[in-house]
Amino acid sequence: MDFLPVDLLEEIARQVGTPCYVYDQERIARNYARLANALTPTAAVGRICYSVKANSNLSVLRLMRNLGAGFDVVSGGELRRALLAGAPPDSIVFAGVGKRDDELVAALDAGVGWINVESAQELRVLSDLAAARGVVQRVALRINPGIDPHTHRHLATGKRTSKFGVETEEALWLVAHRADYPGIRIEGIHIHIGSMVSDAGPYAEAMRVALAVVAQCRTLGATITTLNLGGGFGVAYQPDQAEAPIQAIASNALPSARQAGLRLLFEPGRAIVADAGALLTRVLYTKTNGGVRYVVVDAAMNDLIRPALYGAAHRVSCVKGQASTDAIGSADDDLAQYTVVGPVCESGDVLAAGVTLPKPQRGDLLVIHHAGAYGMSMASNYNTRPRAAEVLVADGKWHVIRRRESTEDLVAREVECLA
Ligand code: LLP
Repeated sequence: MDFLPVDLLEEIARQVGTPCYVYDQERIARNYARLANALTPTAAVGRICYSVKANSNLSVLRLMRNLGAGFDVVSGGELRRALLAGAPPDSIVFAGVGKRDDELVAALDAGVGWINVESAQELRVLSDLAAARGVVQRVALRINPGIDPHTHRHLATGKRTSKFGVETEEALWLVAHRADYPGIRIEGIHIHIGSMVSDAGPYAEAMRVALAVVAQCRTLGATITTLNLGGGFGVAYQPDQAEAPIQAIASNALPSARQAGLRLLFEPGRAIVADAGALLTRVLYTKTNGGVRYVVVDAAMNDLIRPALYGAAHRVSCVKGQASTDAIGSADDDLAQYTVVGPVCESGDVLAAGVTLPKPQRGDLLVIHHAGAYGMSMASNYNTRPRAAEVLVADGKWHVIRRRESTEDLVAREVECLA
């Protein structure tokens, strides 16, 4: 199994309890280095701004800062996290389709490097807020490029009808009228086509669209220095899935950016943290209903919503004592297909459907792989389930980086209100 040693996982599960997220620091660093070396080999070429939404634990953010990454944040909360982790404000890009005034003010006050603007109204609000503070904020206009990235419909963000960005005509109108917006300076174009994109074609298309827009902006006299190509690089959750071809993306984007005199920003999240994390959960019960073999575990859709929300298929392996058997390719005679479900009162609370496992027994540990991205960051308290603990393994030692919530944490604000 291509993750941390199973005896270490068992030790963590015993001492910290389950459900529990475990992250491998070394893997995160390796993933980051691979992307940075290919896409932004020097600071002059550009920068990786880690997408905080994928995994926003402060220790993970601190690690990213230490590795030299900037940050892509999409809320006042993520901005606060990046600052708490020690991010230099000018390394932060604040994006998002619906920023509140107080969030824009927080970003202006912090002095973030970029604000990515997604509508004409937002540009007006931001310009007024900045001018009132006597500052001029550097912005990128997010373009809706009208590109289908061939991914899950919930993960496509750059199609013509999607809510993100502005149409190119509108972006050009804003550039032409930039003198009416004294609180901002339009210096960048931003495009994010979607997430889990696994071929280079849509990035090349995005690049073509962006370069055409940049050329038109320059014709209008604007000084465009930077192109933010977003994130979205696909990872292989299953052995037969394709990863995004980073080299091919780089070998298209870098020469064209250099030729156009543009610095590049990229905002990957998943490709840095997904395979560096797993969700540990214990088997509570097993049973068969209507021929379906169920394994009921102590993690649920509130801990990992991806299977319920996107039909995402995560690899599962079973740790029995010291031996681990991967769901795929095991020679164990006892192998059968199981459906792994959580305790939440919804039929959709399926963590993995039809996975092949050695007969699971009460107390066995299941490892749900590739859970480092959009796992804990999308967790909820549905069914009044306290959120899981998080552990980081670094240099062979493990550290709790988020304590498990207690039920008291969840009710405290309501108890305060009881008469
Ligand atoms: N930049 C922007 C503007 C984004 O909207 C996103 C992701 C990213 C960067 C980072 O994308 P990544 O490199 O991680 O694919 N919850 C879903 C993924 C939603 C992605 C939303 N935006 C999932 O669990 O698959």
